[in-house]
Amino acid sequence: MTMESPAFADATSAREPVLSMRGISKWFGAVQALTEVDFEVFAGEVVAIVGDNGAGKSTLIKILAGVHPQDAGTIWFDGEQVSIPSPAASRELGIATVFQDLALCDNLDVVANLFLGREISHGTLDEEEMESRAWSLLRQLSARIPSVRVAVATLSGGQRQTVAIARSLVGEPSVVILDEPTAALGVAQTAEVLNLIERLREQGLGVILISHNMADVQAVADRVTVLRLGRNNGDFRIPDVSYEDIISAITGATDNVVSRRADRLDRAERLDDADRLDGGAL
Ligand SMILES: Nc1ncnc2c1ncn2[C@@H]1O[C@H](COP(=O)(O)OP(=O)(O)O)[C@@H](O)[C@H]1O
Ligand SMILES: [Mg+2]
Repeated sequence: MTMESPAFADATSAREPVLSMRGISKWFGAVQALTEVDFEVFAGEVVAIVGDNGAGKSTLIKILAGVHPQDAGTIWFDGEQVSIPSPAASRELGIATVFQDLALCDNLDVVANLFLGREISHGTLDEEEMESRAWSLLRQLSARIPSVRVAVATLSGGQRQTVAIARSLVGEPSVVILDEPTAALGVAQTAEVLNLIERLREQGLGVILISHNMADVQAVADRVTVLRLGRNNGDFRIPDVSYEDIISAITGATDNVVSRRADRLDRAERLDDADRLDGGAL
């Protein structure tokens, strides 16, 4: 084996997850959105959360982001039990969430967006310091942004996602949550964002990635947690799992490879029988 990056060594040696959720349940009125869900992420690990529409993915991350409190279950962060009553509490713990709408201000430039609400000021806004910090954040992500003084409206979808992710790093989080970061992107821009996710992992962050795109999940995640109808329905290490097995877990097909094969044989036999009956009827 060649040299391992420190982040990789961390990911394999750190036995305590940076974040773990145990027995999380959540109701919206009569609807039970989550039922006793367990979830965890380690430092230097990318965990994908997948599941069909309504599976509970957004609800789970909104609990982490401090948008909704859970009704039951516990959350542990850095080895301590925590409650996350508000978005500010989530950020203070060190959880950064990049929602799907990105919440960028199109008419403001990159620097202004990065430091929106956290302007560095010593009496007056320190534009120079913010600009140099903006570049260093973007360099940290190996991001390709032509200028930090252009309005965000002029950037491509991938670059906008980059700015949103860079902004999430301003508060120096230890966990970053990305909700469908490649959903609106073409192939090249998707590749750029996947690279960015790898940079986050290299820096030792725990990355939670919500995605519908199995190619992305298989390209960048270390592990995948499947939710179905608000419950855990599988937790797999990416190298150990096939595309088909992830899809089966998402759709609730309970079969494994053996029963699938038996099912196929079964069907073939029934078809044979049908053929024979057809033949007999002639
Ligand atoms: N704010 C809400 N009020 C009522 N029901 C909700 C709310 N948010 C989510 N739900 C319900 O909770 C379930 C899980 O939804 P969600 O977490 O959005 O799933 P996903 O993100 O996997 O598509 C669904 O049945 C959804 O209709
Ligand atoms: Mg959702």
